[in-house]
Amino acid sequence: MSNNIVVAIDGYSSCGKSTLAKALAKKLHFIYVDSGAMYRAVTLYFLRNNIDLHNHEQIAEALKDIHLNFHSRDYQTHITLNDEEVSDEIRLMPVSENVSAVSAVKEVRVEMVKQQQRMGQSKNVVMDGRDIGTVVFPHAQVKLFMTADPKIRAERRFKELAPKNPDITLEEVFENLAHRDYQDTTREESPLTRAEDAIILDNTDLTPDEQLQFALDKIEPFLK
Ligand code: DC
Repeated sequence: MSNNIVVAIDGYSSCGKSTLAKALAKKLHFIYVDSGAMYRAVTLYFLRNNIDLHNHEQIAEALKDIHLNFHSRDYQTHITLNDEEVSDEIRLMPVSENVSAVSAVKEVRVEMVKQQQRMGQSKNVVMDGRDIGTVVFPHAQVKLFMTADPKIRAERRFKELAPKNPDITLEEVFENLAHRDYQDTTREESPLTRAEDAIILDNTDLTPDEQLQFALDKIEPFLK
């Protein structure tokens, strides 16, 4: 049996999950997997190829043609979709507006979960997403469930997006987050929910360093 350590970080959109996950991976020399980037890359492929979300056969065929890979450089996530680097494009509004619908499709989730479980099979990993502690790694040693005030989340995401999207407004970002929270928590397939044994981390008033220390304290007992 493998005795690698899995840190599962779940929570709402734009809660700082990936910032914390990257900082942890860097500090502990764990692999970082951004599972949301995988759903985003699939969404980009579906948009480019006009895949109909109600056509299950078409979805199954499309999934066979999608090859995702992560490349880690300076602990930044670089994801390729069929060998094309799509790290920036998957963050733009067309993908953000459609990713919740795509990630609600059962066939998509089954395939992504399979790939994610493979990535955490034998190596120490930090993985962030919506169902990591509940579905992907229900036996993860450490599970964190992150949350923060929705207005603060929208402001943080707006600051991140504005430099590359001059037309974007704070209201638009707020609406998109609220819509995604609603879709992610109410969908039939693996809705976002806190695993019973997940530790809540509300970071509304916490600095990134304070969050990192909080998480390290929880992981410490599992490090040999
Ligand atoms: O973490 P993110 O905002 O980049 O995720 C994009 C979308 O992907 C999010 O709206 C929900 C979905 N997602 C999911 O359903 N399951 C995951 N494990 C990760 C993301």
